[in-house]
Amino acid sequence: MYVPLPCLGVSSTTTYIAAPACVAARTGEGSHCSFAAHGRRRLRHRAEPEPEPQRATLFQPYPFEKLRALFKDVTPAAGLAHISFGIGEPKHPTPALIRDAVIASLGGLSAYPATHVLPVSGSREALFALAQTVIDPRRNEQGEPAIVICPNPFYQIYEGAAILAGAEPYFVNSDPARNFACDYSAVPADIWARTQLLYVCSPGNPTGAVLTLEDWRELFALSDRHGFVIASDECYSEIYFDEANPPLGALEAAHRLGRGYERLVMMSSLSKRSNVPGMRSGFVAGDAAILKDFLLYRTYHGAALSTVYQSASIAAWNDEAHVRENRAKYVQKFSTVTPMLAEVLEMRLPDAAFYLWADVSRTGLTDTGFAQRLYADYNVTVLPGSYLARTAHGVNPGRNFVRMALVADVDECTQGAQRIVDFCRRLAG
Ligand SMILES: Cc1ncc(COP(=O)(O)O)c(C=O)c1O
Repeated sequence: MYVPLPCLGVSSTTTYIAAPACVAARTGEGSHCSFAAHGRRRLRHRAEPEPEPQRATLFQPYPFEKLRALFKDVTPAAGLAHISFGIGEPKHPTPALIRDAVIASLGGLSAYPATHVLPVSGSREALFALAQTVIDPRRNEQGEPAIVICPNPFYQIYEGAAILAGAEPYFVNSDPARNFACDYSAVPADIWARTQLLYVCSPGNPTGAVLTLEDWRELFALSDRHGFVIASDECYSEIYFDEANPPLGALEAAHRLGRGYERLVMMSSLSKRSNVPGMRSGFVAGDAAILKDFLLYRTYHGAALSTVYQSASIAAWNDEAHVRENRAKYVQKFSTVTPMLAEVLEMRLPDAAFYLWADVSRTGLTDTGFAQRLYADYNVTVLPGSYLARTAHGVNPGRNFVRMALVADVDECTQGAQRIVDFCRRLAG
């Protein structure tokens, strides 16, 4: 059940990730991104341009690539069908109303998509593109690049988006003792002074934690003080366990606090809500001035959502019945699987979303060791938490955690959970 928690400060677990020398070195004439607007041009040109970086070399492999490497030489137990709690890709069937709407609108393929709405090709694309739109990549007088603040653990797109926009990610660790809240009060003033964009994810991947009104009050105050844009990733906003308590969204929080949407942009999508991750349909809403720049950026970037999928998306957004049915399936799975796994691992029902985020320390294994042996012995895939986080302030906050995506049907999830219970009992015995 989703219960809004009181504002949870966190101990000083933030960190500064040292700037790779090659990040954010676009300083010469013509390098200024004309899309970086909103009066946040505090960074000044530096006299000596630095060499253009090979930004791709700064990327980490995606978590699933790391998982493939971890499992490379492992042969899973024979006779057990594979069960995956690895990738967070919905497996519930796509509702017929969406399939029908796709077919009915195929005639629209002959027209260009309209430009007065901001549909996007999934929230991933929007999360990435927003950073390219709002970041001013020029260094300040001290030669320091712009900062993008990310929660830790986090959805890896934020990091790549920051790097490719010429900024530097700064990770704020989430604290398990405080429902995985981030302690923004521990971020130093000089970091805030360089911050141009802050990503939040609520409900969170991988923790499922939902920001409260007090959390939002704090973030808005910080944004007002320091002038950064807030990008609110809400792609799990419609997966929750209590119909009477939907997660609080950024725009609603702004409205409740009696403010406008200045420097606030939220993204969501149909991928999890309507089980159509392959349709790549999402939207962006919020500060009109930012959306104007964002639309201009996307005119060049060119990832318009097809008119066919726009029509199907309208049908999907207009129907709530399939969304409630979808939630009911998650409620059934979480209420079956959570008590089983809570017997053997440190974990509890999350606020929302479809992941279990479990501390495996008591098994005596690391998160990678746990994932590897579980796969070898029981043919069940879970994702090591350390692959979803970065070492910040000397700690990787995903270490000793595993993420389990309960996306398969209830029988498969229950069977997978039983294998994990057997595995943990065998380790303990
Ligand atoms: C936190 C988070 N944000 C955004 C996305 C992107 O979803 P989509 O692009 O399908 O809307 C995902 C996908 O798993 C996610 O976990």
